[in-house]
Amino acid sequence: MTAVAAVPTSMKAIVQDSYGRPDQVLRLETIPVPVATGDEVVVRVHAASIHVGDLVSIQGEPVIARLATGLRKPRNRVPGTDIAGTVVAVGNAVTGIRTGDEVFGWCAGAFAEYVCAAEDHFVPKPAHLSFEQAAAVGVSASAALQLLRGRVRPGQKVLINGASGGLGSFAVQIAKALGAEVTAVCSTSNMGTVRSLGATHVIDYTTDDFTLGSERYDFILDNAANHSLSRTRRALTADGVLQSNNGTSGGRWFGTMSTVITTAIMSRLTRRQAGPSIKFPRREDSVALKSLIEAGAVTPLIDRTYPLPETARAVTYVGMGHARGTVVVTVDTTDRDKQETTS
Ligand SMILES: NC(=O)c1ccc[n+]([C@@H]2O[C@H](COP(=O)([O-])OP(=O)(O)OC[C@H]3O[C@@H](n4cnc5c(N)ncnc54)[C@H](OP(=O)(O)O)[C@@H]3O)[C@@H](O)[C@H]2O)c1
Repeated sequence: MTAVAAVPTSMKAIVQDSYGRPDQVLRLETIPVPVATGDEVVVRVHAASIHVGDLVSIQGEPVIARLATGLRKPRNRVPGTDIAGTVVAVGNAVTGIRTGDEVFGWCAGAFAEYVCAAEDHFVPKPAHLSFEQAAAVGVSASAALQLLRGRVRPGQKVLINGASGGLGSFAVQIAKALGAEVTAVCSTSNMGTVRSLGATHVIDYTTDDFTLGSERYDFILDNAANHSLSRTRRALTADGVLQSNNGTSGGRWFGTMSTVITTAIMSRLTRRQAGPSIKFPRREDSVALKSLIEAGAVTPLIDRTYPLPETARAVTYVGMGHARGTVVVTVDTTDRDKQETTS
């Protein structure tokens, strides 16, 4: 538990009032600090991480996603979802968290000095992790866990296509922790990284195509969707299952919606195709991930960090689709930390 300074009334945050390119729509502003009521807590953010969905909310593309984020402009002015930090205020109905607790979890408005969300969005930070690492355990880690747990069994051959990114780097470690023999597909420069995460076999997609190889897999998690579903299913064993996971491309209006619809239909027609992969973070996932991290089975992989004012650059980098692990935004807490140690 950390000593807590008085909560200020205003804070620095990244805001956006329209959709568009991160460098055109994101700016640093001073806005009010949110206030915790009922079961909510206010967390002083030390670090926030970026996942592919944040990019969608900032750009407003694919346009169909605006049904969830706001039709004409973003419903939440402050983007971002995943954070780690210190609890500085609690609502009167909060029972499980105290001020000073170091936590990680999800919320709306992560790219800010303070966030406010229901207490069940946060769990205690594993003591040995830095705030940057803990912030990386977000939506992507939670989705990787939901897509693999209960589906992958010990001894199975599992292939992760798109193994080195924000979601893939967690998926390799989780599949390994579930007892699978993991084959990771990535580009040449990431081969060593995915091996160090636990992959037994590595396929370099720039020189080899796993759909044309002779190896067959019990489970494929496809984060890249660079082949048709039927072609990818050819790499499965007779009882194998393909879990398509959105993919990184798609048109401006509907994005990968056609893949989502096709997987929904195909999953009704064949047991070898799992249904759509859209997952939302849950407390039980954060708790399970914390256990895996404390057991040494999972370690968040950080590609690089950017200070809060450079969030637009960080998001743009994630949008290039080749992050090695997770990209993290650090919030400068130096002044406030000084106040805490002298108070
Ligand atoms: N189900 C959910 O709720 C959920 C949650 C989060 C994310 N997602 C989806 O998961 C997917 C991956 O997310 P992410 O965070 O890992 O993205 P990311 O951090 O941008 O990583 C993308 C990965 O794709 C790899 N890649 C690019 N082209 C490839 C190819 N031709 N063959 C194989 N791999 C290729 C990249 O590897 P190299 O750098 O080596 O090229 C990189 O590892 C996205 O489609 C995202 O929308 C789903």
